[in-house]
Amino acid sequence: MKIAVVGTGYVGLVSGACFADVGIEVTCVDIDQKKIDNLKNGIMPIYEPGLEEVVIRNFKSGRLKFSTDLGEAIQGASVAFIAVGTPPGEDGSADLKYVLGVADEIGTKMTDYIVVATKSTVPVTTGEKVRAAIKAALSKRGSELPFAVASNPEFLKEGAAVEDFLKPDRIVIGVDDERAEEIMKRLYKPFQLSGERIIYMDIPSAEMTKYAANAMLATKISFMNDIANLCELVGADANMVRRGIGSDPRIGNKFIYPGVGYGGSCFPKDVKAIIKTAKQYGYDLRVLQAVEEVNDDQKYVLSKKVKEHFGEDLTGMTFAMWGLSFKPNTDDMREAPAGVIIDELRAAGATVKAYDPVAMDEAREHYIFDKVTYCKDAYEALVDADALLLVTEWSEFRIPSWDVVGRLLKNKVIFDGRNIYDRKYLKTLGFEAHGIGSK
Ligand code: UDX
Repeated sequence: MKIAVVGTGYVGLVSGACFADVGIEVTCVDIDQKKIDNLKNGIMPIYEPGLEEVVIRNFKSGRLKFSTDLGEAIQGASVAFIAVGTPPGEDGSADLKYVLGVADEIGTKMTDYIVVATKSTVPVTTGEKVRAAIKAALSKRGSELPFAVASNPEFLKEGAAVEDFLKPDRIVIGVDDERAEEIMKRLYKPFQLSGERIIYMDIPSAEMTKYAANAMLATKISFMNDIANLCELVGADANMVRRGIGSDPRIGNKFIYPGVGYGGSCFPKDVKAIIKTAKQYGYDLRVLQAVEEVNDDQKYVLSKKVKEHFGEDLTGMTFAMWGLSFKPNTDDMREAPAGVIIDELRAAGATVKAYDPVAMDEAREHYIFDKVTYCKDAYEALVDADALLLVTEWSEFRIPSWDVVGRLLKNKVIFDGRNIYDRKYLKTLGFEAHGIGSK
C-alpha cells in the first residue's frame, strides 16, 4: 500500500515515519526544499524522542521517501494525508490557506481515485471545503475523477509522539464513502487495535472530536489552576486536593496538575479556534472562554510570587530559570509560559539566566532571543542568582544536589512552577520553596 503525507511538521513527519515503520510505502512531501534535503540527510526539523531512529531506519529501507513533488507523490497512492499547518489567523480562527492550497494541488495533479484525509486540526466543515477545492481543481481540467474526503485527526502528544502514534488510545476516522472506509481500515490494520478503538463516524463529528478532546483537557488544567489559586487563599494544599479528587475514576488522576499554565501548539490554538467557530454560529462557548482567561492569568502566577517575596522592584537582581520549553521532552517554545515569566522579571528590572536541556537553540533563534543568558548546565544558571524558578519539569531537574544548589544561590529561595519538589523536605535543608496552590 502506498500513501502520501503532505506537510512534514510534527504531525506529518511522525505519521509518515510511523506508517512506513509498519510496512506502508510513504512519501512525505513539503514545499520547503531545505527541510526535505535535511530529512534525506537524517537531520530532523524538530526534537522528538525516537523520531530520528524511525525516520532513518525507514528512509534507508526505501519505504520512506522525502520529496517536494506532490504530483509524483500521489501517483499510485491510496491515501493523501493533509498534515500542513493551520496557524491562527488574526481573529483566532484557524487559517486554512495551506490546507486548501494542498487540496487544490491534489485536484490539479491526481490521476486516479484517492482518499484525501485531513490530519491537521481543522475547524468543523473543513472537510466540505477540501472536497469543494478538489472538485473545482478537477473541473478546471475537465475531469470528473472520483475521490473521497476523510477526517483522521491526530491525538499525539509532543515528547511522546512516536509512541502515541504506534500505540494509540483510539483512532478516529470520519468518512462518508464505503470504498474510502475500506482503504482506511486496511491502512490501520497493522496497528492491530481492537474493533471499538477504531471509531468510524461522519466527517464533521471527527473534526469536532479533535477540538472537544483538546478543549476538555485544557479545561481540566484551567479548572485545577483556578482551584489551586483558591487553595492558596484559604490555606489548603492543591497537591492534596489533586490526589483527593484524582482517585475518583470519573475525574481521573491525569491532567489535573496545577502549574504555570498550558502552552504548546495545540491547546492555546485549538481553544481559540473552537471559540471562534462557535461565535461564527452565534454561540458563546462560555466555559472555554473562561478556560482561556484562567490560562492567560496563570502564566503570571510565578512572577507575582517572586515580587511578593522580593518586592515589586527587582532592579539589579538575577534569577535562575530551569526549563524553557512549554513542557519536558520537546524543544517547542510555542506559547511557552517561560516567555511571559521572563518578560515580567525583566520589566521589573531583573536579569534571567536560563538553562533548558534541549530548547535553548529554539529559544535563542525564534522566541526569547537574547532576553536571557543561556547557560551550559543547570548549576551554571544558579551562580550568583537571587533565587531559582523551576518552569519546565524536565526529569534532570527533579533531584538536583541540594547541597550545590544551596551553595551557588545567593538566597536559598525556590519558586517551583510545577510542584515537583517536596517543600517540607526542602525546608529541613534551609530552603524557602514556593509552589503553586499552597502557602
Ligand atoms: C496536546 C494533547 O495532549 C494531544 O492529545 C493533542 O493531539 C495535542 O495537544 P501537547 O500539546 O503535545 O498535546 O501536550 P500535553 O502533554 O497535552 O500538554 C499540554 C500543556 O498542558 C503543557 O503546557 C503542560 O505543561 C500542561 N499541563 C498538562 C498542565 O499544566 N497540567 C497537567 O496536568 C497536564
